[in-house]
Amino acid sequence: MGVRFWVLLVLLQFGHLVSLLTFRWNCDFRWSGCMKRSYDGGITWSEREQLPPGILGPIKNKPILLENGKLLCGSSVESWNSWGAWVEMTADSGRSWKKYGPIYIQNESLSVIQPVPYHTANGNLRVLLRSFDGIGRVCMSESVDGGETWSFVVPTDLPNPNSGIDGIKLKDGRVLLAYNTISRAVLKVATSEDDGDSWQDVVTLEDTEGMEFSYPAVIQSTDGCVHITYTYNRTQIKHVVLQPKVWL
Ligand SMILES: *[C@@H]1O[C@H](CO)[C@@H](O)[C@H](O)[C@H]1NC(C)=O
Ligand SMILES: *[C@@H]1O[C@H](CO)[C@@H](O)[C@H](O)[C@H]1NC(C)=O
Repeated sequence: MGVRFWVLLVLLQFGHLVSLLTFRWNCDFRWSGCMKRSYDGGITWSEREQLPPGILGPIKNKPILLENGKLLCGSSVESWNSWGAWVEMTADSGRSWKKYGPIYIQNESLSVIQPVPYHTANGNLRVLLRSFDGIGRVCMSESVDGGETWSFVVPTDLPNPNSGIDGIKLKDGRVLLAYNTISRAVLKVATSEDDGDSWQDVVTLEDTEGMEFSYPAVIQSTDGCVHITYTYNRTQIKHVVLQPKVWL
């Protein structure tokens, strides 16, 4: 019927009250952001609700909940000759939304997408970003006003071959990122002790010429372990667990 799920995305929980599931719904190759709610911890779900025009929900990576109760989602748009990132925020569990941006590299029309948001030690917000071909670096932008305005994007030291990244703020305050290096044949994990200004590689997860390891997703469980999933040569999903005392 020309209707299918395109990307099934992000499950988030507000306390124990409501879980939101956002996803993109595709009809004749035009897609829009949608959401479902659960009030019983994910056992049953509401009917599909459409997000407002232009609101796409978290594009690839997990949103973060700010201290003021707002949920911050990293979003982005890949239009013709125009790539840029946005931040979408809701203060009322997805009933109303506001969008802030664009977040981009000054004077570059094809710049960055798929933000990874996190808090910094001094109370600001940052996003790490995938960048377009030829830029070659994981990029970064900062907001000093709770996510409403964002700096021009700057490159970090980490390479990026125009491929998806994901990361988290660890419980010990470091930032951890899973990323590809020269190509999707190499997938590594790096950490930063200064909120993304400098990076140290901690482990190489994959390095096999002719294969592809991409679209990482990262969480830290309550026992401190870091769980990373990624596509394994585009045919399977691999799940890796890093025990902090051994690997990090
Ligand atoms: C962007 O373009 C403006 C106008 O041409 C110029 O003044 C500025 O230096 C450029 N910035 C960068 C980072 O290239
Ligand atoms: C990985 O994928 C490539 C491209 O589809 C394929 O040629 C190759 O045989 C695959 N390798 C393995 C080990 O599955």
